Amino acid sequence: MKILVTGGAGFIGSHTIIELYKAGHSVVVIDNLSNSSKVSLERVAELVNVDAVPFYQVDIRDRAGLDKVFTEHCFDAVIHFAGLKAVGESVSKPWEYYDNNITGTLTLLDVMRQHGCKNIIFSSSATVYGDPVTIPITEECPKGSCTNPYGWTKSMLEQILSDIQKADPEWNVVLLRYFNPIGAHPSGRIGENPNGIPNNLMPYITQVAVGKRPELGVFGNDYDTPDGTGVRDYIHVVDLANGHVKALADIERHNGLSIYNLGTGHGYSVLDVVKAFEKATGMKVPYRIQPRRPGDIATCYSDPAKAARQLGWSAQYDIEDMCRDSWNWQKQNPNGF
Ligand code: NAD
Ligand code: WQD
Repeated sequence: MKILVTGGAGFIGSHTIIELYKAGHSVVVIDNLSNSSKVSLERVAELVNVDAVPFYQVDIRDRAGLDKVFTEHCFDAVIHFAGLKAVGESVSKPWEYYDNNITGTLTLLDVMRQHGCKNIIFSSSATVYGDPVTIPITEECPKGSCTNPYGWTKSMLEQILSDIQKADPEWNVVLLRYFNPIGAHPSGRIGENPNGIPNNLMPYITQVAVGKRPELGVFGNDYDTPDGTGVRDYIHVVDLANGHVKALADIERHNGLSIYNLGTGHGYSVLDVVKAFEKATGMKVPYRIQPRRPGDIATCYSDPAKAARQLGWSAQYDIEDMCRDSWNWQKQNPNGF
């Protein structure tokens, strides 16, 4: 298939492009580079042995820019990663988040339908479950109340995409709810490249290990979990990337609307991750217990059975692999791209 990858210069997009190439698909990328570097695509090109990954520096809110890309190419499907994703920033800049993520996606969808491309895979998030009613979380678990505008953009975009598919059954929409993506390509050539102080656990740990930050703050040890720290379902980004390739099958079989959790089904606490990192890398991660972070929940992990059953997808990498590959990327690229 010929796939348009929006946000393809970013963390998950760049890894997905590799797996798309490996599966024999062709790819065009658009990205406004607001949270990424073109170097990631140069590294992807090296890894898949092509001269260059076709790239347009276009914002998804730029209708004319999108129209040009769709005029020059005929796509079978769009994999839509482009979006802003910093939870804390979304609380202080809600307008920017709603504009970028929602206006951007509405513009993209309109241009897609005008060009007769009605197949989309969308990056959603376990955040749509809010504080989940059941654990492990199946796709039937009701969506919950999000604690930040970022989460609401994902929840609202799921609703928008579902309504559009319902009104026009020519659309095929796959909503992929990612749990906590970490890790990096095993080559260490591409990985997560956060700006400033990392918000997420694993990039913070790797920056402590590489000596950029003195210690990890552990946000709360009084949750109702085995060791009191928050429990999450960490998933290797290469497994996540493969989930997108597998999800293309639902588009090929005209499945209408489908929703999948992409997780491993295993929950690890913050201290479990610290221990796994130390074991996998031999590095020490000093930490200090701090107060809870507002908006955090105690426990979140998936039931990934539906993706296994319907897509034949399941995660292959374990937590130590994830730690090893995150570290391999960080130590080879202490200052990112
Ligand atoms: P990322 O920031 O590395 O990648 C997103 C890319 O989108 C970046 O390259 C950025 O420059 C681009 N972008 C942002 N706004 C754009 C716009 N208006 N026009 C064009 N390009 C734009 O993030 P990621 O971790 O790779 O996440 C990819 C997607 O997955 C996002 O939609 C994110 O919300 C979602 N997601 C991420 C996580 C996670 O923990 N990383 C979890 C669940 C869902
Ligand atoms: C994991 C655990 C923290 C940093 C976020 C978004 C979610 C999704 C994935 C996009 C929690 C603890 C963290 C630190 C810590 N993104 N922690 N010290 O919060 O599960 O999910 O990223 O969709 O929407 O909310 O991930 O990596 O921030 O935190 O103790 O310095 O690590 O409290 O228990 P989270 P995270």
